[in-house]
Amino acid sequence: MTIVQRVLQAATLASLGLAAAATGQSEAPGTTEPADAPAIAAVNPTPHSQDAERRGRTHYLRHCQICHGFDGRALENIDFEAADLTDPDRWLFGTTDGDLFRNTKFGAGLDMPPFEAELDDEEIWDLVHYLRSIGPRELRPSPAEGTVQTKENRR
Ligand code: HEC
Repeated sequence: MTIVQRVLQAATLASLGLAAAATGQSEAPGTTEPADAPAIAAVNPTPHSQDAERRGRTHYLRHCQICHGFDGRALENIDFEAADLTDPDRWLFGTTDGDLFRNTKFGAGLDMPPFEAELDDEEIWDLVHYLRSIGPRELRPSPAEGTVQTKENRR
């Protein structure tokens, strides 16, 4: 799917969400999560490991960097205001592992597309491990648990 198709799809889902809200159907605020979606764990059910982080990084580079940037900061992107994924203080749709999972799987806001069709749940939880590894130091797993040293987090 091209970016344009993704964005159109995200916009369509968002407007469906508005329509659902208008007809009184419940919809999680600020997300396109279907009302009948199974509950999402608040904490990553995949144990942290270097391998999980590496797998997550591969998914990130393949699916996310095009909008969020190589380093997650979305600085080079002029087409969208994609979130800075290294800075939870600026996130609008929640900061728990479960929030990251939901926003990746079902999309967020108007322009964050859903990845339900591209990534299975295990792959998304690996991605959450990677996102933690480029986030603030205090939210990263302890070095004893093994953190992938990337250009972004080696500082
Ligand atoms: C087509 C461009 C695009 C792609 C590809 C994309 N994103 Fe996003 N993403 C966005 C935009 C734009 C926003 C901001 C949405 C808003 O604020 O309305 C966003 C927001 C988010 C958020 C919510 C941040 C907050 O404010 O709470 C998360 C989490 C996220 N993206 C993760 C990912 C992950 C993980 C991937 C790869 C699987 C990904 N994104 C791929 C454009 C994209």
